[in-house]
Amino acid sequence: MTKKFYVTTPIYYANAEPHIGSAYATLSADIIARYYRIKYGNENVLSLVGTDEHGQKIAEEANKKGVEPKLYVDSLVPTFKDAWKSLNIDFDVFMRTTDPSHENEASRVIQKIYDKGYIYSGTYEGLYCVGCEKFLTEKDLVNGKCPLHPNREPVYQKERNYFFKLKDFQNKLIELFENDKVEILPKYRKREVLNRIKEGLEDISVSREGVSWGVPVPWDKSHTIYVWVEALLNYYTATKTREDWGRFWPADVHIVGKDIIWFHTVIWCALLMAAEISLPKTVFGHGFLTLKGQKISKSLGNVISPKELIDQYGLDGTRYLLASAATFGEDRNIDEGEFDEKFQADLANGLGNLVARVETLAEKIGIEADSEIPGINTDVAGAIERYELDKGLDFIRLWISGLDKYLNQERPWEKSASESKQTLLAIIKGAEGVKSIKEIASSLRPYLPDTAEEILRRFSGTVRKGKILFPRLK
Ligand code: MSP
Repeated sequence: MTKKFYVTTPIYYANAEPHIGSAYATLSADIIARYYRIKYGNENVLSLVGTDEHGQKIAEEANKKGVEPKLYVDSLVPTFKDAWKSLNIDFDVFMRTTDPSHENEASRVIQKIYDKGYIYSGTYEGLYCVGCEKFLTEKDLVNGKCPLHPNREPVYQKERNYFFKLKDFQNKLIELFENDKVEILPKYRKREVLNRIKEGLEDISVSREGVSWGVPVPWDKSHTIYVWVEALLNYYTATKTREDWGRFWPADVHIVGKDIIWFHTVIWCALLMAAEISLPKTVFGHGFLTLKGQKISKSLGNVISPKELIDQYGLDGTRYLLASAATFGEDRNIDEGEFDEKFQADLANGLGNLVARVETLAEKIGIEADSEIPGINTDVAGAIERYELDKGLDFIRLWISGLDKYLNQERPWEKSASESKQTLLAIIKGAEGVKSIKEIASSLRPYLPDTAEEILRRFSGTVRKGKILFPRLK
């Protein structure tokens, strides 16, 4: 059987420009996709990004701006595409939930769930957070507000909804997650999800009567499909956009933020079971990047755009700082000045300086390196396959300082030409106890693709001094 890998990011609400929180999730998925492209070949990897364009929140924002919702989302989509391009995110599909192919397939799936008898008509009465597009229970509230949208009043809502029989799936879900048939990572999130399921599930609304900006419910056009249900389906509908993409289903991993892990585990898996569609292998819930302890988000007004970081640290500098910002899975507060320090230490003085030292010496002596590209080191590969993305970079950092020490200890500049040549070739190709510069570069390919390629190019054939990779910050 051909190996394949399908990785997805959440589809972001098309009501604000991307910020470093959304960039963080997208970059993480890109690192995973790039790794599997190297392992399985380009044609065997599918990576999906996109925008979530329907629902009350988008409709309200568009209304505030005085434009039609479709025109409004059309105006925001390019900002996402540009941001991902500027971060060198190599996705295969950019899914928009207003694409007719998605709308048709989503409505086909919901009809199937209805036909199987899992949907009934009822009335929802309670609170709703428009920011999260989520029905709130008393337990969700902190000081009477949604904890993720403390500046926004939850709205009281009473409307006719179609309900999905989530309760029917309680035992099946417990069995699935306990036995890792669908793996929830990190493990502590799996425990949280399981504990909550065991407290008891309630049936959920899957339609909105009062929201017209959405995909009509096929058997009752006076409702639209609840935006979260429709949005989740994008992971599946994307694989229907090309005839030969069905083979990618089910997803190997959904990368999502911890705030939406419930939707991606409990609700998503129950909907798929009801529609008799096979289940994803893994759902990974990462943490939040915070500033002064607050989640970076539009509604809190503390957004940093990916562009600001790229202007300061360059493309691969930004990729490095984001990928290493947190233990993947956990929250991380970014301290002031932290990115500057890390850039100087790990990139300008670390990797960049090492490459410069070695190539200067190599040019002086005249080194011919072979054009062989080593594979990704197994420690780094293992870390990425376990979704310990930042750990992969920890290894690399250690090897860089190992090579620095080796260089200082061997002092090739004090040796005869032939001895010095040997030392440098050892650094380029590898030696006892140290990783070669080419193995380091190769292992960096998923993380810093341009830099990795540039280093591999510089150390193939006649080695010459090149441009500084990471100029020191002013
Ligand atoms: N549209 C839904 C997702 C639907 S997926 C079928 C949504 N969109 S969102 O734009 O609000 O958030 C998307 C993702 O960005 C979430 O996974 C969220 O956790 C992540 N992040 C938003 N701010 C973040 C940080 N400050 N840090 C890390 N990730 C954060 O939810």
